[in-house]
Amino acid sequence: MKRLFLLLAALLGLCACTELQRESPLPRLEKRGEATQLIVDDKPYLILGGELWNSTASSSAYMEREGIWGRLQATGLNTVLLPVYWELIEPEEGVFDFSMLDEAIAEARRRDMRLVLLWFGSWKNSMSCYAPGWMKRQFGTTYPLVKNREGRTLEILSPFEEVNCEQDKRAFVALMTHLKATDAERTVVMVQVENEIGMLQSARDYSEAANKAYHEAVPQEVVDYLKEQGEACRPRLYEAWRGQGCPEAGDWEALFGPGLDTEEFFMAYHFARYVEQIARAGKEVYPLPMYVNAALNSRGRKAGEYPSAGPLSHLWDLWHLAAPSIDFLAPDIYDPLFPEWVAQYDLPQNPLFIPEIKHEPCPENGARVFYAVGRHKALGFSPYAIDDVTPDVPRYALKEAYAVLRAIAPEVLSAQAAGRIHGVWFDQAHTEQVVRIGDIELCCRHDLTLGWSAEAAHPELWSETAALIVELGAGEFLVAGTGVVLTLRSYREDGTIVGIERIEELDYHDAGLPVLRRLNGDEDHQGRHLRIPFGQYGVQCLVCYTYR
Ligand code: DGJ
Repeated sequence: MKRLFLLLAALLGLCACTELQRESPLPRLEKRGEATQLIVDDKPYLILGGELWNSTASSSAYMEREGIWGRLQATGLNTVLLPVYWELIEPEEGVFDFSMLDEAIAEARRRDMRLVLLWFGSWKNSMSCYAPGWMKRQFGTTYPLVKNREGRTLEILSPFEEVNCEQDKRAFVALMTHLKATDAERTVVMVQVENEIGMLQSARDYSEAANKAYHEAVPQEVVDYLKEQGEACRPRLYEAWRGQGCPEAGDWEALFGPGLDTEEFFMAYHFARYVEQIARAGKEVYPLPMYVNAALNSRGRKAGEYPSAGPLSHLWDLWHLAAPSIDFLAPDIYDPLFPEWVAQYDLPQNPLFIPEIKHEPCPENGARVFYAVGRHKALGFSPYAIDDVTPDVPRYALKEAYAVLRAIAPEVLSAQAAGRIHGVWFDQAHTEQVVRIGDIELCCRHDLTLGWSAEAAHPELWSETAALIVELGAGEFLVAGTGVVLTLRSYREDGTIVGIERIEELDYHDAGLPVLRRLNGDEDHQGRHLRIPFGQYGVQCLVCYTYR
């Protein structure tokens, strides 16, 4: 009897072990050398993604009719950012239906693609429109909403109410529990918690609970953080506190002075605390990387006029302090000034990921991804409304850019970790940039400055271009991108000459990255430059020589 029991126990152990072996390792964020990277299947992973229009994933039949999965795959995406709608997964309180999500996971898996899930829970673009109907019918009573200064109710769940947070948390935990149970292959690699959180129409909540919290002493952890971090805090927060004489106690206005900035600090802290409860509970069940995305505070608008108090760069400290389970804050970029925005989210403890960027027929996105990955070691890139892709259009910018990046991803990811990667960016106001690597200066320019292309004479056609440069070894570089011309110069002032020994164009349509052709003569201007023409994408290997 005892022997039978032991045999059974051994068999059960074996089954459990085989079960474990079948599970792929958990996706995670990891600091590798100089970069924080997303690790999938135990290897660094570069997200070449796209986010669906909001309503697309509400129907598999619709996705099939429109041939969406096929188009995304043909465009070369490796990851799709796909919403999970609270109102659809919990149609009745406590009753969950994950069938649509299961179909999306199966479809992505079939196509060897990964998913980032977007939790459309309490807040989506500030509003609470994705709360389930059974909750909406009790808005303002069981589930308190935000009020503006005049006492008018806004359809935004108040972050000061435990009951709201508890419901969201319960649903989110159900989602993460379901994923854990069903996604052994780790098709889902990351989760966005909520979507573009922020106050609109009013910089702060004036509900009774919010007013009470506003006039209470600022939590001690905020004061301790300010004292500890001091000038290392983002400037707007630190300056406000310093402007008040660095007080160590008092309510929000005592600490930061009256005004919209203080209202925004207050709301950011409380939004973050609410999100923390949800993310932490989700991670306790299934610890995938989690982030929050921000609608940017652009075009000179004041708090309350843009979705304020969201995960914005100037509020990074408060979000970081109050929501430690959130791995990073991410910008949704719908404005020009791409280099300025991305720089604000590449912080020592905040890796850059761009979950949304204006798509449309926007050729610059092809260029932008090279810059983000090369200059800021981005985890990935994802234009919004990606369902609109038209992969059959010849020279489709995003498709070309993603094909290049897919082919060179191993080199790019290891160069990110080793700090051997650079990014250059060009627009009409920034036509030249010099990258110094050791004693060699790589002088890069917008291709149209050559005046060789028809577009050069028409400034209105000068769209942005960019490239990344990977240091392969001494005097050897990989240059990838679009619309760039590169010449060489020695940094030493001793008459050393740096020349081009050879340039090879690599075939990025082949995963092995074979040499397609030697670029010489007209193509390298008789040994004077490396060029990826405007409107084309490519990757070239450059080998230099020096002499005196
Ligand atoms: C940003 C949001 O996060 C998206 O879900 C979508 O609503 C876009 N704006 C629309 O422009």
